[in-house]
Amino acid sequence: MREFNLSGRHMWALPALALGLTLALSTPAAAQDGPVFAPDIAVILQENCQVCHQPGAIAPMSFLSYEEVRPWAPIIKEKVVSQEMPPYHYDTNVGIQELKSDARLSADEISTIVAWVDAGAPQGDPADMPPPVVWPDAAEWRMAERFGQPDIVIPSDPYDIPAVGGDAWWQPMVETGITEERCIMAIETKPSVPGRASTHHANSQFMVQNEDGEWETFARLSEYALGKLGEIIPEGSCRKAPVDSRVTWDIHYYPMGEPVEGDQVEVGIWYYPEDYAARYEQDLRSYPGEGDIDLAPYGTAMTQGFHSFDHPVRIDSWQPHGHFRLVGASLEIFHPNTGERELISMVSNWTAYWHLSHVYEDHVAPLVPAGSVMVLTHWYDNTDENRSNPDPTVYVGRGSRTTDEMSHDWIAITHLDQEGYEQLLAEREALEELRNTAGDDG
Ligand code: HEC
Repeated sequence: MREFNLSGRHMWALPALALGLTLALSTPAAAQDGPVFAPDIAVILQENCQVCHQPGAIAPMSFLSYEEVRPWAPIIKEKVVSQEMPPYHYDTNVGIQELKSDARLSADEISTIVAWVDAGAPQGDPADMPPPVVWPDAAEWRMAERFGQPDIVIPSDPYDIPAVGGDAWWQPMVETGITEERCIMAIETKPSVPGRASTHHANSQFMVQNEDGEWETFARLSEYALGKLGEIIPEGSCRKAPVDSRVTWDIHYYPMGEPVEGDQVEVGIWYYPEDYAARYEQDLRSYPGEGDIDLAPYGTAMTQGFHSFDHPVRIDSWQPHGHFRLVGASLEIFHPNTGERELISMVSNWTAYWHLSHVYEDHVAPLVPAGSVMVLTHWYDNTDENRSNPDPTVYVGRGSRTTDEMSHDWIAITHLDQEGYEQLLAEREALEELRNTAGDDG
């Protein structure tokens, strides 16, 4: 495709157009034919990369200026083509594609970066640089602008982050101080400002006491990844905050050169008003996969979980979980009446390095009739083909240490009744019809 014998700008533009991509040419009159750093690439980096690639954030290299970016150009190309960067691991060609806080680059953005690197990563005219982004104050809750200060703030126990060293996991259990059962409206996790660069991820779970007085996982509270703006519970649903509960943190620190004493990560919770009338309960729970994870040296394994409900539900989000041998996961729905199987979501480049919840846009969140089955599949690879595998020569079984494997998916479910289910289906059909008519007109 790149063998066209054309000259000038067509050399670059035509093959890309032949791929069916629309490309925005910057300054048509300029001598430069393809995309240039200022402004084409700078804009893409501002919107998709700088949140992590700036001083004080988690990425080890800053991408603010041409001088900083230029040496990385070939690796940037490699990482965006393989879709390892920005980190958002979710298959593009199958299942639901409309997701909230989807960090993936568009096909256009990827081809612009590729064309730029292939042309020798030209700078363009520095006068065309877009103005620098003004980042929100990292000490503030990002949702405060919309909702004010959180109703409850739960900090992790302090942890001393060393200046240098390897990955460290910190898993303290803390009291929530929640005394009234209220519906959660929004949740956000915030690292400290000095600790921000070293806080790779921070997940939290609600714990409640069982009859024997033991603390058990009740539900997922939140997961943090830099650049992600917490979670808002859809209006009409109620996710209850459990009274007399605790929170278990699972924080992954990675020392970044500056020691931080007594670091604390915080989770903030905003409630719906006291008189909020929700029609349905929503919960975010872990659904296990069955079957042994018996990974011999250089072995592979697969687990599956089957879960159904005696009432209709809406699936609001999906987050597979495993460790270094997990490589892929999928969520399907099986309808026993018709024998039909729907693939909802799939991740085939999973990595334990990033923990992301995939939240479906409201109008596509799967509506599941009573009796249909969620099928959760996980694939494990203990060979050296798996690039995350720390050691293919050892046996790996189930367990909660990072060197063991796990099989479960965190799924947020809104529990509907038949009437509400039919109402939602009808609304979607009406919306679909409206779209089709609009499509016919234009
Ligand atoms: C959510 C945070 C985050 C975002 C957003 C992000 N990165 Fe990264 N990036 C990292 C971290 C952390 C590392 C270092 C660890 C690693 O390689 O995974 C990294 C490493 C890299 C590397 C070096 C890889 C290597 O092998 O040395 C490149 C190149 C890169 N990122 C490019 C990008 C580009 C281009 C974008 C935007 C299109 C982007 N990143 C967006 C966090 C991020």
